[in-house]
Amino acid sequence: MSGPQIRPYATAIGAEVLGVDLAQPLDNAGWATIHDAYLEHHVLFFPEQELTPDEHVAFARRFGELEDYPFVHGIEGHPELIEIVKEPDEVINFGHRWHADMTFREQPPAGAVLYALEVPPVGGDTLFANMTLAWEMLSDGMKKTLRELRAIHDSGKPTRHSQNFKGMKMQHKEGSEQQITAHPFVRIHPEAGQESLLICPSYCHRIEGMTDEESTMILDHLERHATQDIFTCRYRWSPGDVVIWDNRCTMHIALEDDLAAIKGGQGFRRRMRRATIRS
Ligand code: SIN
Repeated sequence: MSGPQIRPYATAIGAEVLGVDLAQPLDNAGWATIHDAYLEHHVLFFPEQELTPDEHVAFARRFGELEDYPFVHGIEGHPELIEIVKEPDEVINFGHRWHADMTFREQPPAGAVLYALEVPPVGGDTLFANMTLAWEMLSDGMKKTLRELRAIHDSGKPTRHSQNFKGMKMQHKEGSEQQITAHPFVRIHPEAGQESLLICPSYCHRIEGMTDEESTMILDHLERHATQDIFTCRYRWSPGDVVIWDNRCTMHIALEDDLAAIKGGQGFRRRMRRATIRS
């Protein structure tokens, strides 16, 4: 094999990585190609993989130590891997609003590696947004205003996370108490050095020193801005796909578009396995 080949996936964000078997250890040259592409494209798609939980963990660990997800139990023997499941009669996908992962923490995770076990024949796509570009394309006036502000990111009560998903081990477990943190709107990528916009429509609804109404006005505007087509890509899953995203400069959303389930019938099962990389 000649090593991984990188094929950009959309103008704003994402690249496919072909010619690599993630179940095998990566040599230094292969790792350097993948790591460079990760910093450049922020999200990498690896089609047609076959990963045991151990191999999933080994690949994710190339990017850093792993951390447990606070509101979901890990799979048997692997507390650091969670399963994300939508059953055929369920409407909502876990992660169905735009978000960066766990921004309610002082140090949100660096990234995540998601592996598709079962996906619908159509639908259930994931969209990703490039928050570096989103920041760059704000007006100078808005950037100046945002540099002075901090937003409150709130996980909500643990009970918020213990509902809705029949197929998931969502529970109030140790270390999963409500977490609230204030973050500036602009953050600097620790490896790439670039500034990016930090918002999180899932967890962040208030700006320090502002009323709810003022906060909503600004946060809604920023969500609309950052999720425009020009900053995003949409990934259509096949079983065996592995995706890694850089949580330090992206947001993502799992679409809630299972029409049969929305109409009250049986739609499709969607099952993913995820590792979270510590910052
Ligand atoms: C997530 O937000 O972690 C899951 C995304 C997905 O299932 O597509």
